[in-house]
Amino acid sequence: MQLALSTWQEVEAYLEHATGIIIPIGSTEQHGPNGLIGTDAICPTRIAAGMEEKMNVLVAPTINYGMAQHHMAFAGTVTLRPSTLIHLVTDVITSLRQHGFSHFYFINGHGGNIPPVTSAFCEVYHAAGKTTGPAPRCRLANWWRNDAITELAAKLYGEAEGHHATVSEVALSYFAHPEAVKDVAMTPEIAPNGEIYDAADYRLKFPDGRIGSNPALATVADGERFYQLAVEALTADYRKFVSGDNNEMAG
Ligand code: NI
Repeated sequence: MQLALSTWQEVEAYLEHATGIIIPIGSTEQHGPNGLIGTDAICPTRIAAGMEEKMNVLVAPTINYGMAQHHMAFAGTVTLRPSTLIHLVTDVITSLRQHGFSHFYFINGHGGNIPPVTSAFCEVYHAAGKTTGPAPRCRLANWWRNDAITELAAKLYGEAEGHHATVSEVALSYFAHPEAVKDVAMTPEIAPNGEIYDAADYRLKFPDGRIGSNPALATVADGERFYQLAVEALTADYRKFVSGDNNEMAG
């Protein structure tokens, strides 16, 4: 069930039996020579759609912009200031809470979102601590950070999986959008690894945008495997989360 394709009466009826909601969040940023600018939003959006097929769950519209300051030296990247993203996520949760939602499950596609989104959760908990009523519960599920995904990526690609414009995320985005697959030769085959500071430093050290990866290995077929694993892992995680059977720290 998609929030954007529901009526308010349907949302009200949903709230009579469930108070959890899935909110995909991504970024609009460069992903190397063959990765789509929308990769980080496309992956969680597709995973959320797969979860929706398995469960009766409401999925909110994807937050397509994130905190991508470090990618700003590459054309097409859009970034929110960290403070903007904190406000945006806080306001989304606060709005939904007013209607009776209690469990907010963010499926995240971008590492740069982790500090601002977890800060937003702290804002929500801080404000809720001064009020009565059911306490909100927020969870940030970074789809690429679970054992099933990292094991498959290691098995298929070894060190070529990399750290940005990874093979697994490019593959999953290709599975979601096979019409957008790009055939691009990579030089060097595997990009260098290293630390970054700001956008200019990033471009200097990683001129084509990749960090440590060879995303030329990405295929639609592999993308479907990552998709299936992510849907399975996150569906189980969501069920635990809404049932209260989850002691992990949010984030
Ligand atoms: Ni990415």
